[in-house]
Amino acid sequence: MDKDITKDKRFSDLKQFTERIPLAIPHMHGDEIRYVQDAYETDWVTTVGENINEVEHMTAEYVGLHYGVALSSGTAALHLAIRLAADNIYHSDLGDGSLRGHKVFCSDMTFAATVNPIVYEGGEPVFIDSEYETWNMDPAALEKAFSVYPDVKLVVLVHLYGIPAKLDEIRSICNAHGALLVEDAAESLGALYKGRQTGSFGDYTAVSFNGNKIITGSTGGMFLTNNCEAADRVRKWSTQARDTAAWYQHTEIGYNYRMSNIVAGIIRGQWEHIEEHISRKKEIYTRYKKAFQGLPVRMNPYDAENCEPNFWLSCIQIDPDGMCPQERTDTDSRWESSGGKSCPDEMMTVLKAFHVESRPIWKPMHLQPIYHSNKFISSETGNENDTDIFQRGLCLPSDIGMSDAEQDKVIDVIKRCFG
Ligand SMILES: Cc1ncc(COP(=O)(O)O)c(C=O)c1O
Repeated sequence: MDKDITKDKRFSDLKQFTERIPLAIPHMHGDEIRYVQDAYETDWVTTVGENINEVEHMTAEYVGLHYGVALSSGTAALHLAIRLAADNIYHSDLGDGSLRGHKVFCSDMTFAATVNPIVYEGGEPVFIDSEYETWNMDPAALEKAFSVYPDVKLVVLVHLYGIPAKLDEIRSICNAHGALLVEDAAESLGALYKGRQTGSFGDYTAVSFNGNKIITGSTGGMFLTNNCEAADRVRKWSTQARDTAAWYQHTEIGYNYRMSNIVAGIIRGQWEHIEEHISRKKEIYTRYKKAFQGLPVRMNPYDAENCEPNFWLSCIQIDPDGMCPQERTDTDSRWESSGGKSCPDEMMTVLKAFHVESRPIWKPMHLQPIYHSNKFISSETGNENDTDIFQRGLCLPSDIGMSDAEQDKVIDVIKRCFG
C-alpha cells in the first residue's frame, strides 16, 4: 500500500513516536562485561575457557539435563542434534548425509532453522500442522502422519514463541512409534511444562542465545542431552571432528561450531537475569491481554493448567469476524479495511509508520517456496490450522526494555485499527 497510512482518519491525530519500539533486542546488565573482561585480560579469547565451561554447566543444570555443549548458534545445535539422531537411527559411519532417503516429521509453523538441518543431512522434512491451543505441533496430525509414513523414526518439535507444545502427547506418540524426539527450545528457554523445563523431554535439545532470545550472547546456542556419549560426539564434531592423535587426523566429517569464550562471557552474565527477563515478558503479555479485552483479538494461547511459558513473544490473532479482506502473495500484501475491521498486514504497516516493529507470525514451512513440494500433514479436520494462524496473527513488541507508556502506544494503535 503506497498511501501514507498515518493520514488515515483513524490515526491522523496520533503524534509520531520519537523512539523506535523494537520487537525484542538484547539488554545488558553490567555483569556480562566482568566475564568478558576476565577472558580478555587472561587471553582466553578463543573457543575454550572458563566462561564456556560455566555456561555449559549452568544451562544443563537449569534445563535439568546432565550435559551441555556450547556451540556457535542454535542452528548449529539443531544440526548436530539431528545428525546425531540420524546416526543413531540409521547407523551411518561417516555421518555425511545420514538422513538421505529418509523422511523426518517436523513442526510446520516455525523458523526455517528448525527445518533446514534436516536437509543439511540429506533428509526430507514432512511438515505437521499446528493445533489452536498452543500453536504448536498437533498430536493428532502427528499420529495421522505416522499412519501415512509408519517408517519415520525422527520428530523435530518447536515450542513456538516460548509456549510449550503438548509434550505428553507428542512424547508418547514418538515412543509408540520408536521415534527419537529433537526439541527445538530455541525460543522457550525457561518455559515449563508440568513443572519441568521444555528441552528436557526430547532425546536431544537445542537452545539459542541469539540477539533476540530470552538471554543472549549476541549469538550462540547449546546442544543438551542426558547422554554422555552423545555429548562427547557433538563436542568432537563441533571442533572439526579431530581424532585423538598428535596430528590432525579425521575419521568423520566435522564442523567449526564451537562457542567463543567471549560470547560465553556475555551469556554467563545474562544467566543471572533470566528469571527477571521472564517475569518482565509475562507482564508485557498480561498487559496486552487485559488491554485487548473487548477487541476481536486473542493472545497466543497456552495451557494455563499445565504450562508456564517464558512469554518470549506476545502475539495476537484476530478473530475471523474482526478480519478485513487481506490477500498475500509470496512477497506482497493487499488489504481493504472498513467497518471496524483490520488485518495483521494493516496493523504492521501502521505500527511501522509510527516506528514500532512488529512481525507476521512465522510463515509455515509448507508455504515456503523452498519447501513447496514437501509433504504436509494437516490437522484432523483437514483444515490448515497454521495457514489460518499465519493469516490472522501478528507478533507484537515484546522487548523487556519497553516502558508501560510505550506499550500503551502500541495498544492504542491496535485499538485504532478497529476504529
Ligand atoms: C525456533 C527457532 N529455532 C532455531 C533458531 C536458530 O537459532 P540461532 O539463531 O541461534 O541459530 C531460532 C532463532 O533464530 C528459532 O527461533
